Amino acid sequence: MSTSWKGLILAGGTGSRLYPLTHAVNKHLLPVFDKPMIYYPLTTLMLGGVREFVIVSNPESIPQLQSLLGDGAKWGLKFEYVAQNRPGGIAEGFRVAANELEGRNIALILGDNIFYGDGLSKRIQEATKQTKGATIFGYEVADPSAFGVVELGPDGRAVSLEEKPKKPKSKWAVPGIYFYDSDVLDIAWGLKPSGRGELEITDVNRAYMERGDLHVKTIGRGVAWLDGGTHADLFEAGQFIKVVEERTGLKVACPEEIAFRMGFIDRNGLADLVDDSPKTEYQKYLKELLDRSR
Ligand code: G1P
Repeated sequence: MSTSWKGLILAGGTGSRLYPLTHAVNKHLLPVFDKPMIYYPLTTLMLGGVREFVIVSNPESIPQLQSLLGDGAKWGLKFEYVAQNRPGGIAEGFRVAANELEGRNIALILGDNIFYGDGLSKRIQEATKQTKGATIFGYEVADPSAFGVVELGPDGRAVSLEEKPKKPKSKWAVPGIYFYDSDVLDIAWGLKPSGRGELEITDVNRAYMERGDLHVKTIGRGVAWLDGGTHADLFEAGQFIKVVEERTGLKVACPEEIAFRMGFIDRNGLADLVDDSPKTEYQKYLKELLDRSR
């Protein structure tokens, strides 16, 4: 596990918009068609070569997440779990996991952000090659006012960043995937809560912009960016994954497959995963992958 990157997956919060689904189950364990939601952000970072992860969640959800994901070894990964007692904004994740993240490059992804499409791996690998400063993405959306919004100058650099502006200065929403050098911890410790009482990730990104150290990459129309924030979002994300998977016969966000294709596990590792799986369609998929790789 040689890269300098640690993935930080935020999987806490109350999930109140998804009540009563989230009354007894953490939002990030809910199904997006055939897999738990957290598989999607996890595999997105795996595609960038990230193998060590810190998963931040509320104390009562950590045993549920551990029971799903374990220590990561079977996928050639390493997972650490950190409890956040009370949700305080995305940037608070850096503070609660400061010990685990110290001195590392940090790839932050929100546990309900789902990315799929051609060219995505390349984009993420470009971001992990940039180990100095910060890299964020811009994605064109119909209603940017629901997101962080970046305005780009003629040279493609950020000229302004605003969190959920009433009058957005551009169509470029900033999705919940961000890449930082280790300075981000100091920046996070220096933040003050915003008007909505949260430590805002947009304030972190603005600090990098003001230092001249913020890289913005746009993600084009060939990539879908979805989230599972509301009942309708969750339903639509599941339908989207179903359509893609049934048409192609390929799974989206299958950690076993990505671990194998990325070289995090070898054929023996994949064979063990097949042996350990219950006899299901999912196992059949892994078995075919193993057989085809001969
Ligand atoms: C958060 C961030 C916002 C970002 C969005 C992406 O919004 O604050 O900048 O665009 O995630 O999903 P929130 O989840 O707080 O609505």
